[in-house]
Amino acid sequence: MRILVIGSGAREHAIVTALAGGPDAVAPEPAGPGAASPDAHELHAAPGNPGIAALATCHEVAATDPAAVAALATDLGADLVVVGPEAPLVAGVADAVRAAGIPCFGPSAEAARLEGSKAFAKDVMAAAGVPTAMAHVCATVDEVAAALDAFGAPYVVKDDGLAAGKGVVVTGDRAEALAHATACLERRPGGTVLVEEYLDGPEVSLFCLCDGTTVVPLAPAQDFKRALDDDAGPNTGGMGAYSPLPWAPADLTQEVVARVAQPTVDEMRRRGTPFVGVLYCGLALTSRGLRVVEFNVRFGDPETQVVLPRLATPLAPVLLAAAEGRLDQAAPLRWHDRAAVTVVVAAHGYPGTVRAGDEIEGVDDAAAVPGVHVLHAGTARTDEGRLVSAGGRVLSVVGLGPDVPAARAVAYEGVARIALRGSHHRSDIAARLPVLPATADA
Ligand code: AMP
Ligand code: GLY
Repeated sequence: MRILVIGSGAREHAIVTALAGGPDAVAPEPAGPGAASPDAHELHAAPGNPGIAALATCHEVAATDPAAVAALATDLGADLVVVGPEAPLVAGVADAVRAAGIPCFGPSAEAARLEGSKAFAKDVMAAAGVPTAMAHVCATVDEVAAALDAFGAPYVVKDDGLAAGKGVVVTGDRAEALAHATACLERRPGGTVLVEEYLDGPEVSLFCLCDGTTVVPLAPAQDFKRALDDDAGPNTGGMGAYSPLPWAPADLTQEVVARVAQPTVDEMRRRGTPFVGVLYCGLALTSRGLRVVEFNVRFGDPETQVVLPRLATPLAPVLLAAAEGRLDQAAPLRWHDRAAVTVVVAAHGYPGTVRAGDEIEGVDDAAAVPGVHVLHAGTARTDEGRLVSAGGRVLSVVGLGPDVPAARAVAYEGVARIALRGSHHRSDIAARLPVLPATADA
């Protein structure tokens, strides 16, 4: 199959790696017979990154330009386009690709509003009976103040539009909550912010592959959203992740499909905007049961880096089946009995203003640790071929092992071999696994 992957982060590097046969198959020195993918695909990416370039042909096409992406897919004669990030989806890239007659794994712009507008997502959840935090949609600072007082501390304030995981403030400080809401309203005149009930309990990310009708869940993962150890500091796109979740209820995935994903997909179809792609269910397992924190309409970053290396079923046919509305005929997914932990190495300043152009050393040394592979995110090659930082999250170091502690140990061994001036990473990814609230039930 000829496959075009849209995006340039570590998530897209993980997707390309999976399409190329998985981390075992694409290791610098394949581990003997059977390591190479039997049904190799021709892989392309736009724009891609230096890590992806080792596995796919990269094309300098803007990911958020629907006409340009559709033209590239047509020129290549692509059999499938897989869209990684949310911005191209919200911009209508999937619509343009499908209009060109090419199967696309990713929702239409209309369906992508599940992520693009938190108020829209709340409306769909209400119609579908999906459990989520109560929320007030506020258009003025006075409305925000009233909603903050109605819910009480801790306060949760969310920008209604796309904000790359950085539009949410959760704080015990009322003045900080109000200041964030004011800033969001001023930045987007005529826009709204959501003030929400605070959800206690551990968070889980569950990706569901959807073809408009059928839902096929992947394995759950947990993401570490705060910038600093012990969940301190500002929210980020995600600083690390692990999968599986040994502490989670055995029937969690089944419950999320039954109570969240399937009703949402049914409601989207009923509205005439069927959902095709990944429905990312961001959940809190609260003392009062399961609640949706957020929907995203694409694979999560960095959770994808720990979910896909555990998938034993070849990814490409499943994504094509989803794009073509045939998921009901797909065989059940098979999983490797192994754990994965990823640690993000972030640039100086992330998640604020980041510094670019710092030299990155030690990537090959890190990948030489058994069980480790290194995924690129914000990296670039200079004209002389040096690898330098070029974004906030620079690398995603993935460790695989028989269980979470073993995977964690090798991931950090890999991280220790990387040198990037001014970079930072969390030292406590997957260190302490959560305990469920005692009274958790439906
Ligand atoms: P979101 O962009 O909606 O995913 O929010 C980003 C992060 O903020 C989530 O992953 C949570 O850690 C936190 N968060 C969002 N909503 C709530 C809530 N209602 N209660 C507690 N934490 C929340
Ligand atoms: N890791 C959070 C996200 O992908 O939105």
